[in-house]
Amino acid sequence: MNIDIASQSHADSAAELLAVAVTEDNMAQRLADLNAAFDGALLSALENDEFKAKAGSSASYPGFGKIAAGRLLIVGLGDGGTTAIQQAAGAAGKAARATGATTVALDMGGMNADQTQTAVEGFTAGNYKFDKYKTGKDKKAGASHLTLIGGVDEAGVSRGQAVSGGQSLARDLVNEPADAIYPQSLADVALGLASDQLTVDVWDDAKIEAEGMGGIMGVGRGSVRKPRFIHMKYTPKGTPTRKIALVGKGVTFDAGGYSMKPSSGMQTMRCDMAGSAAVIGAMQAIRDLAPDAEVHGIVGAVENLVSGNAYKLGDILDMYSGKRVEIHNTDAEGRLVLADCLHYASHLGVDTIVDLATLTGAAVVALGDQYVAMFTKDDALRDALNSSAADAGERVWHMPLPDDYKAMLKAEWGDIKNVGGRAAGSITAALFLSEFVSNASWAHLDIAGPAFLDSGFKHMAPGGTGSMVPTLARWIAG
Ligand code: BES
Ligand code: MN
Ligand code: ZN
Repeated sequence: MNIDIASQSHADSAAELLAVAVTEDNMAQRLADLNAAFDGALLSALENDEFKAKAGSSASYPGFGKIAAGRLLIVGLGDGGTTAIQQAAGAAGKAARATGATTVALDMGGMNADQTQTAVEGFTAGNYKFDKYKTGKDKKAGASHLTLIGGVDEAGVSRGQAVSGGQSLARDLVNEPADAIYPQSLADVALGLASDQLTVDVWDDAKIEAEGMGGIMGVGRGSVRKPRFIHMKYTPKGTPTRKIALVGKGVTFDAGGYSMKPSSGMQTMRCDMAGSAAVIGAMQAIRDLAPDAEVHGIVGAVENLVSGNAYKLGDILDMYSGKRVEIHNTDAEGRLVLADCLHYASHLGVDTIVDLATLTGAAVVALGDQYVAMFTKDDALRDALNSSAADAGERVWHMPLPDDYKAMLKAEWGDIKNVGGRAAGSITAALFLSEFVSNASWAHLDIAGPAFLDSGFKHMAPGGTGSMVPTLARWIAG
């Protein structure tokens, strides 16, 4: 999306859609000029429609030739906080998508750099749609040109665009069918991000096998589309202040293997690479934001299918770390893929590893689709991620990681089982991962709920959300 900043008054905007954000208190004053243009009808219409300026609420009116803009949208700014700005701008973006408006002017009132960034991200997220496979009238243009009026910060605009670019990329990757995004095509997307500061290395299945990554190979054996291992590395211009590895689960389709999912549970399992999409999206944002940290993006990309060659229950996988894992459920595949990636990340000399994965249905049962389940024993890392998430308008909940629950993973034949029991499913999954991390502080983010919305939420359309890209970008590039 093309974004420019203008100093015109909102009444002069000739955009197809003019969106003006107001609070309950400043509404009458902020809308006085437009109200006059409508001969006093605007404020009484808002009162009639019981518009109270609640965050993300909106009221839409035709311009009737009384104002320069084609259509007027009043959006509620609630308490004016981060979430309210995100939702108000998001509502404007969503309205552009719904009406097919391609030129939009957005007046949020005066905003500082952080608020501007939030508004750009919110608008872009609301305006996002994935309709490339539609051929009929459901296909609506949406905004291609946004004019920000009312006082905004230029640096906030470019930061917002960098983050939105990464988030929209992650959403596209999740929304694409598994027939379009499979291990090699996912690797091709990562390769396409390369720049002088971002290198991308891809291992094919022969190399993955030769290196001994038995977790990735085991899960990927059932598909004709062979696994790929992706290592992206961003190097800052000066001496790095921090060294970070982001690790993403890239199961491009999860049928469950021989522990097969029912059709209903499989329908949206193209979303099972959302962790890797977040990593790839975050790496693009980081490339564009150019922070002073060294950042690695690690992805294990596989399809979890069935065939005469697929891995079986009772198999024992020889993992990259040397541990032996006894398979009790082929649908608990993500942790096997991540285990090899985490062991690799543990030997890069990084201070911190954060992994992202649509790992367990149990996380969705516990927290629903609006909270990311965060597992870490490092209080400073917990606080940093919590605070970046709050700044990004994303919701994260810290979960327990009790060592004595590891008893549930005790194996009979190998070193460790790949599943616990029904109880504490997202915790035993996290504890399994912890067995493969060393030499670094670590957090695991189970994004199974927030990564994919079955029916949309507020300004977010159904499908991939790009969950955690805004949080990671803030945590790394502040
Ligand atoms: N990809 C799924 C988890 C998932 C479920 C993601 C729903 C998004 C929405 C994962 O591979 C899986 O199948 N986990 C199993 C683990 C179980 C077999 C221990 C689950 O959650 O049922
Ligand atoms: Mn699974
Ligand atoms: Zn999975």
